[in-house]
Amino acid sequence: MIDKYAVIGNPIVHSKSPQIHEAFAKQTNQDISYKTVLAPLDDFEGTVRDLIIQGYKGANVTVPFKFEAYKICNSLSARAVSSGSGAVNTLKFLNGGKVYGDNTDGVGLRNDIVQNLNFSIANKHILILGAGGAAHGILNSLLGASSIMIANRTHERALELVMGIQDFEARASTFELLDRPYDLIINATSAGLTDTALPIPNIIFGENCLAYEMMYGRETPFMAQARANGAQVADGLGMLVEQAAEAFYIWRGVRPQTAPVIAKLHNA
Ligand code: ATR
Repeated sequence: MIDKYAVIGNPIVHSKSPQIHEAFAKQTNQDISYKTVLAPLDDFEGTVRDLIIQGYKGANVTVPFKFEAYKICNSLSARAVSSGSGAVNTLKFLNGGKVYGDNTDGVGLRNDIVQNLNFSIANKHILILGAGGAAHGILNSLLGASSIMIANRTHERALELVMGIQDFEARASTFELLDRPYDLIINATSAGLTDTALPIPNIIFGENCLAYEMMYGRETPFMAQARANGAQVADGLGMLVEQAAEAFYIWRGVRPQTAPVIAKLHNA
């Protein structure tokens, strides 16, 4: 029998995950199906239980359910626990209706930056814009950096996030107070959704700077500003494919090749 998987979210119609996992399955000769599931905002857990009853083997979880997904897990990966973000994006359904959870967003970002974009994180000065769930979820994937600055519209939120960081030198700022160049700048705000420009000074784009927008599918004001300041610019499509590859590995024990899938989505 074919093994069934899904991505659960609300909204979910525009998800590229089915296309990505179908490409991985074809490439690795895995007999699986993968579909989108729209969960009602007030019944994520009921939706998961239904999938388990229908014999599904696992699911990805996207906005706004990653925190609820964490809460329903019977067991969690070490990185899902140690990140402290309280969110998971990958569920594996075990025998007896038990649920195992992992978060592959951080490793997805790291693999895209290090392997696909050939950018070493080691000893770099990194600036993260935003202090919400997306920012929290990627922090522990930046180990090896020289320093981390977290800038956010609401300063207190950046401070809170910084207080939880033990493994590297981290500081908090507002956008307006940033006054030095960085090697890697990651936009983890949702400002791009509304085409809102962030009040960030041009000085932050250092020499050979990589400007990484975690969103994908459109040129955001952050990307345009980075480009105008000579930075190398990437959007979150590679991260999307890499986090999917890690989920696929958790479920199937096989690592798919990501480069052809990223190239195909970029061209589409
Ligand atoms: P997510 O899970 O996508 O991170 P979130 O937890 O709601 O969602 O966080 C959204 C992030 O984008 C926050 O850092 C938010 O800033 P505040 O903490 O000040 O709210 C940031 N953000 C959203 N819209 C923004 C805008 N128009 N300008 C600047 N920052 C914005």
